[in-house]
Amino acid sequence: MDQKKHIDDAGAKSWTWALPDGHASEDWIRYRERLEAVATRRGFELATLGTALGEPLLMLCCGAADPAVPRLLVVSGFHGEEPAGPWGVLEFLEAADTGLLSGVRLTALPLVNVTGFRAGTRFNCRGENPNRGYLGLPGETPSHEGQLLLAHRELLQAAARDGLLTCHEDVLMSHAYLYSCERATAPGALAHALLAANAAFFPVHPDGIVDGCDITGGIVFNHHDGSFESWMMQQGAARIACVETPGQHPIERRIAAQRAMIETFLNFAPGTGD
Ligand code: NI
Repeated sequence: MDQKKHIDDAGAKSWTWALPDGHASEDWIRYRERLEAVATRRGFELATLGTALGEPLLMLCCGAADPAVPRLLVVSGFHGEEPAGPWGVLEFLEAADTGLLSGVRLTALPLVNVTGFRAGTRFNCRGENPNRGYLGLPGETPSHEGQLLLAHRELLQAAARDGLLTCHEDVLMSHAYLYSCERATAPGALAHALLAANAAFFPVHPDGIVDGCDITGGIVFNHHDGSFESWMMQQGAARIACVETPGQHPIERRIAAQRAMIETFLNFAPGTGD
């Protein structure tokens, strides 16, 4: 999830790409315009959880209102040098099949770390890691964004009841992989389906170690740390996947992979496919 052991300034180095439409991957104004447009066009609820470092933390809700349907949470953009996640969430929302959405209640936090996204930096403008400090582990304090998320524990707990997908990238990698946290002893059908969706675009990471974690068959299984993902698992989420697209491949392919994995995540909602 976030075991990066890059050089000391890894959180401050800027990574940006040109998108196929000519906009830059860090174009937050364009990003917000498109998100607002799709919300209006498709009748999705767009709100903010609050403000962190002067920027809104946007939240979008869509799908069925029926409380009995699976409740799924998708969160993206913890790290500003991983832009394919936020753009992938946006493209998913723009094109998602109405029938797929109607079977779930989907909450999306498409871009957590806006100041990092705008700068193309992993960390936020204060140099904080927005995916650390959720469990009060020694030496870790929550970022400004993390404090906002922690303050909405009950909302997020309810939204992720039946599953959480987080969309990350590994900027120095050429291989795809994912983390899966499950209340089981081995990765289940969702993890394998997400990996297959990622593998349709990229070679899979070989067995061994990735960011200090054991990886087998492209999956890091039941790893726990001070991340948002581990916090949500502690809060009772049924299962969690954290997908990683490799930053050494073209941005449009990474966005397409993220979009495909979000679609897979919804297709495997409890009672619909797994
Ligand atoms: Ni990340």
